[in-house]
Amino acid sequence: MRSLIDIVDFSVSEIDELLKVACDISENPGKYADSCRGKKLATLFFEPSTRTRLSFEAAMYELGGNVIGFSEASSSSASKGESIADTAKILSCYADIMAIRHPKEGAPYVAAVNASVPVINAGDGGHCHPTQTLADLLTIYRECGRLNDLTIGCCGDLKYGRTVHSLISAMGRYENIKVVLISPEELKLPKYVKYEVLDKYGMEYVETTSLEEVMPELDVLYMTRIQRERFDDPFVYERLKDSYILTPEKMAAAKPAMRVLHPLPRVNEISIKVDDDPRAAYFRQALNGKLMRMALILKLLREAEEGRQMERIVTADDVELICDNPRCISATEQELPHKFRLVDTTHGIYRCIYCEAKKKL
Ligand code: NCD
Repeated sequence: MRSLIDIVDFSVSEIDELLKVACDISENPGKYADSCRGKKLATLFFEPSTRTRLSFEAAMYELGGNVIGFSEASSSSASKGESIADTAKILSCYADIMAIRHPKEGAPYVAAVNASVPVINAGDGGHCHPTQTLADLLTIYRECGRLNDLTIGCCGDLKYGRTVHSLISAMGRYENIKVVLISPEELKLPKYVKYEVLDKYGMEYVETTSLEEVMPELDVLYMTRIQRERFDDPFVYERLKDSYILTPEKMAAAKPAMRVLHPLPRVNEISIKVDDDPRAAYFRQALNGKLMRMALILKLLREAEEGRQMERIVTADDVELICDNPRCISATEQELPHKFRLVDTTHGIYRCIYCEAKKKL
């Protein structure tokens, strides 16, 4: 079935349609109150979540549907060693659509290939988080009035922050976007996002370690948390955890129309003193997340009824390579075949079809 694994699975015009529906839901909630009557959403959360899981649940309830699921791996059969493929097949017998969050990169893709209902990626390791991007896009659209002609600063953990990877992928398809990448040296944006998104779309970008220096030029500041749970070495996390803290003093240098976004949860990267600044849009962004998830559930259930199939079955090339990313789903699912696709013929570069890790032949 048609699923949402990566934000680029949807075209710009499909995203425009979702934005339109989300705005309509916000203005006329009563019109949608029975749209999913008799339908069930399964939320499979193998990793902690507040906003994503509960906004999915609230979204389904507000559409008149029901929700089943689990909120931690320990309360599912994963703790007994069940594979993602089997869990996806089982849940397809119980629910009409499922949202899955997993610490292993590529797990939602494996679920989608094995499920017979639409699958939504609700975050996979440090890889991507397309529904957060839908929330981000609606927020930018509502707060700035446009999705073109923007200078967007992404600040914090750009290495492990999956929301940034998905946001940059999405923005690549809009006109005149400049990306300012603000991070410590150790947490720079992964090369695959640079080469395969920024370079591919010809997006203008700069990298810096100083938030203060770039503040005056930004239209959007996308703050992120340093992702403690993805660090192999806790001492490196301790050293980097306070790299950026947004304060009212720093906000003084920003444009009056600039907007601060954050996928949340925040730890200490935005002082609570910034919350009352009208430019702080992160709590409104959480509301937008629910609206976009409502629009998304409606779209995927409608397409499932029409029998629309998944377009993103990635064709693997005939090559014997092993993915050595320890966070890839292929590292834990024993019978999952390692599969790669050729992305750069000149240099013989392949990428794992699950986690996108690079391999050279
Ligand atoms: C983000 C995530 O899970 O990646 N949270 C969310 O879904 N709103 C950001 C984070 O955990 O830092």
